[in-house]
Amino acid sequence: MTSKKRPRVYITRKLPDAVETRMRELFDAELNIDDTPRSRDELAAAMKTVDVLVPTVTDRIDEALLAEAGPQMKLIASFSNGTDHIDVDAAAKRGITVTNTPNVLTEDTADMTLALILAVNRRLTEGAQILTEKPGDWGGWSPTWMLGRRIWGKRIGIVGMGRIGTAVARRAKAFGLSIHYHNRKRVNPATEEELEATYWDSLDQMLARVDIVSINCPSTPATFHLISARRLALLQPTSIIVNTARGDIIDEAAMIQLLRDNRIAGAGLDVYQNEPAINPKLIKLANQGRVVLLPHMGSATIEGRIDMGDKVIINIRTFFDGHRPPNRVLPGRN
Ligand code: DGY
Repeated sequence: MTSKKRPRVYITRKLPDAVETRMRELFDAELNIDDTPRSRDELAAAMKTVDVLVPTVTDRIDEALLAEAGPQMKLIASFSNGTDHIDVDAAAKRGITVTNTPNVLTEDTADMTLALILAVNRRLTEGAQILTEKPGDWGGWSPTWMLGRRIWGKRIGIVGMGRIGTAVARRAKAFGLSIHYHNRKRVNPATEEELEATYWDSLDQMLARVDIVSINCPSTPATFHLISARRLALLQPTSIIVNTARGDIIDEAAMIQLLRDNRIAGAGLDVYQNEPAINPKLIKLANQGRVVLLPHMGSATIEGRIDMGDKVIINIRTFFDGHRPPNRVLPGRN
């Protein structure tokens, strides 16, 4: 590639050094070294001149913003697994291809799901905070001190049995949980057999029968508030809910109310409805040890981020070599 022909690539957030170095070598790359989130106006201005936009889940690429793109911009190579922040249909109408970075976040996100299940049921953050924040409160071991809930032998209900849901199920099985799942389609018999998993066509019926609910489906118009107030009310008072997918899949206000009324036992959340804003009621519940809150870090490993960068680079290279990029997101999917 001559430097003249190098595509102009606008990267909206700071990426790992190794990824940025490679991007600089291959592309006419505009980086965001200090990681200040780009404003809508800055994105619109960039889209008028660049060939490729590399956004992340923190950039909202909606129809109105896409209308600002110049005719030269033909690719959105998102540095993300989810694509709910991009109006893929509107992009397709403008002849813009969208790609994402699937597969490389699966194991890390599944790990974090299990971490939240353990943290909520076994009161990990509460225990750790006592030693660092109130060490005087610990008078030594006692038979009734810091009792949590056992995991082994309980039932997990996985909502969305795609790659991440299946990886969660594998880990959950090793922790002695029995696997229940709801999905648009039943998974193949070999996977069901391996996981000894029970498929529930009815989400309502599954929710009423499990001890742990894990949200692992993508955010789409069809899954918006899938876990609605009505469905949340079906949960047992001893059950907990864990969300490492997207905040808008759960009716967050209804979940908060159930937690306050002790109608569910707890929640472990990595994602929020109005991210990065967090409902202050959730913070209060966290301070009471009722919920464990993480700042959307389910996939945050250096290995995962480098793998994501590699995928973005491959998608851009393949596209500009005139081929169909491997991780193309088809319109009509979100
Ligand atoms: C993604 O890429 O969709 C993840 O949510 C980021 O962690």
